[in-house]
Order: sequence, then C-alpha cells, then structure tokens
Amino acid sequence: MTDIESRIDTSRPHTARIWNYWTGGKDNYPVDREAGDRIRQLHPGIGEYAREDRLFLGRAVRHLAEEEGIRQFLDIGTGLPSADNTHEVAQRVSPDARVVYVDNDPLVLAHARALLVGTPEGRTDYLDADLRDVDTILAAAGKTLDLDRPVALMLLGVVIFVEDDAESYAVVRRLMDALAPGSHLVLSHTVVHPSMPEVDAAVAFWNEHGTPRLTQRTPEAITRYFDGLELLAPGVVPCSRWRPDAPAPDVAMYAGVGRKP
Ligand SMILES: C[S@@+](CC[C@H](N)C(=O)[O-])C[C@H]1O[C@@H](n2cnc3c(N)ncnc32)[C@H](O)[C@@H]1O
Repeated sequence: MTDIESRIDTSRPHTARIWNYWTGGKDNYPVDREAGDRIRQLHPGIGEYAREDRLFLGRAVRHLAEEEGIRQFLDIGTGLPSADNTHEVAQRVSPDARVVYVDNDPLVLAHARALLVGTPEGRTDYLDADLRDVDTILAAAGKTLDLDRPVALMLLGVVIFVEDDAESYAVVRRLMDALAPGSHLVLSHTVVHPSMPEVDAAVAFWNEHGTPRLTQRTPEAITRYFDGLELLAPGVVPCSRWRPDAPAPDVAMYAGVGRKP
C-alpha cells in the first residue's frame, strides 16, 4: 500500500467524495454513496446545490479571465477532478493561465495528475495542504504564480470547514492581504436560511457521520468575507443566481466575487 492509499479512510464519508457522487463522478466509496443518498432524502435539492456550485465556478472563472484580465488562480478546496476544472475554463480563454490547486484530502491528491494536464503555455500545480496553513500555501503558490500580479483566490465550498468564525475570517483575510491589488476573491458557502429548514437537517446528519464537520452561515455572515473588497454585481446571492446563463432554482449555497482595490 502506498503512503497516499494508507491515508484514504473508507470507513466514514468524506466531503470531496460525496461531492463527487452528487455531481455524477465515480471516485467515491459505498460509505459516501450511502450518506449521499440519506442526505438527498433529507434535502432533495442537494444534487442541484453541488451542480450549481460547479456551474458558478465556470461562470466566475470565465468572467475573471475574459472581463477582468485575470491570468492566475489559487483554487483551495479543489475537490476531485470534474468536468470544467478551473484550469480548463481559464485556459480556454487564455492558454497561458496559471493555476495552483490546494486540497487536504488524500483521494484528491491521488487523482491530482488529472488536474495537472493543462496547455503547454500555461502551468498548473497541486499542493497537498490545509486551508489554515496560509504561510505554507502562499510560499508554495509563489513558485508557480507571480504574487505581485493579480490572482483570483477561489474558495468554493471550503470555508464551511473552518468551524470557528474568527479563524475563518482571519484565514480569508490573510490570504487576500498577501495578494496584489486587482486580485479577486471567489467564495461560495452553505447558508442557514429560514426559508430552507431542510438544509439544517442534512447538515446535522453530515456532522454526525461525515468528515470534516461543516458550518452553515447566514447570508450576512458570508458577505463579511468580502469586507474591504469591491463586491461585483449581483453581490452575495444563491450561486445559481450569480450571472446565470439560464434561469435556475435557488440553492442553499451562496456565492460572491469581490475585487481587491
Ligand atoms: C464541498 S467540496 C468543494 C469542491 C470544489 N471546490 C467545488 O466547489 O466543486 C470541499 C473540498 O474542500 C476540501 N477541504 C475541506 N477542508 C479543507 C481544508 N481544511 N483544507 C483544504 N481543503 C479542504 C475537501 O477535501 C473537498 O475536496
């Protein structure tokens, strides 16, 4: 057994794998599928929530590459390789785009090679690290990205795993502080909302059985991650409503994009 294989725990559902299950991937285990089905019973919209988050990623990266001239992306909490990963969307617009992926799940590390096949002009790199290890991430990212030029920091569905509010704001702030003016924050986050009580039951089930634990936050608390940034229209909204290509349902994941002045 390799070192990576020995780190893969198939006894408990893991977030990267369950996300992969809901978005139609094959890189998951029976324990993930069982929990995924149970959560779908509690919150039938969960499949759309994961799918809409990936579609938001595509629209946000395309907007940043096409309209804001962003050529560098730091994607933390990458997830298992899927259709239209960040480098594929960015390099379709700009073949020289550079992307650094970061995740702390050993199965994502095992599949990381699929994330590293980009255009010859661009570059992609992968780092096995925790979002909270800001200094490690910045030091490693600086080998591939020029941190004196704008970078898009992608935090999709990952800040939810930093339970302590103050720590979660501090991590995002420290990362953005290290980036050049003109950099952007792209963030999506599970919401707690009176109109969606079924989400709370699904999250409670996850926190009892899955890993890591997940924290829901209100739309106002999610908006605070963008303090000090210029929030792009339409602001912090259900990710399905962020500049949609077609009408889409409301989902329990809110998202926004902000520019560092
Ligand atoms: C819900 S998935 C989201 C995947 C992808 N960003 C997307 O939006 O489709 C969360 C990902 O964050 C990763 N993750 C969770 N906690 C993390 C941490 N503390 N540091 C780095 N990655 C983390 C998980 O392994 C998983 O791949």
